Amino acid sequence: MTEHFINGKRIEDLEIIISSEQIQSRVREMAALISNDYRGKRPLLIGVLKGAVIFLSDLIRSLTIPLEIDFIAVSSYGNSTASSGVVRILKDLEQSIQGKDVLIVEDIVDTGLTLNYLVDNLGSRQPKSLKVVTLLDKPDRRKVVFEPDYCGFAIPDRFVIGYGLDYGEDFRQLADLRALDE
Ligand code: IMP
Ligand code: MG
Repeated sequence: MTEHFINGKRIEDLEIIISSEQIQSRVREMAALISNDYRGKRPLLIGVLKGAVIFLSDLIRSLTIPLEIDFIAVSSYGNSTASSGVVRILKDLEQSIQGKDVLIVEDIVDTGLTLNYLVDNLGSRQPKSLKVVTLLDKPDRRKVVFEPDYCGFAIPDRFVIGYGLDYGEDFRQLADLRALDE
């Protein structure tokens, strides 16, 4: 096998936290649960750019209900791994969400600041319902009380990359979730 380097790191040396197969199987389970909960509805799934793009793409292909998608981009971290606590909308939705069943799709809940802000902000736009699905949760890192409605995996307090998650915009394309220990 050819060695695979990104940003000076040999990918094969980074510990796999959750394999691609585990992710795929859990995403299908979550999709079944969500399809059941939203039966008869046509939810608007809002992907939080950019980290949630891959999760959202896999999730919607396993959903069996009609749906729409849109995207929002927020910034709380810049290019560092430490949270500044400041959340800013970089790209807003293309449409009104008034009267819609909205499901926010996020890659990971860490301090909870981003989703706390998003639920507040989108909640004030009069959706019919508002829920959150996250692939990953690091409950040990919370700075504010926040519970996602659907969660794929709770993980320990380690910095993870792959499956959409980045470090300085690198590593998003990895199929497995790996730990980047510094
Ligand atoms: P929170 O506002 O602290 O909950 O941070 C949420 C955002 O921080 C996520 O959407 C990610 O973009 C980023 N983040 C938090 N932990 C990690 C990680 O382990 N790897 C990559 N990005 C992370
Ligand atoms: Mg994110």
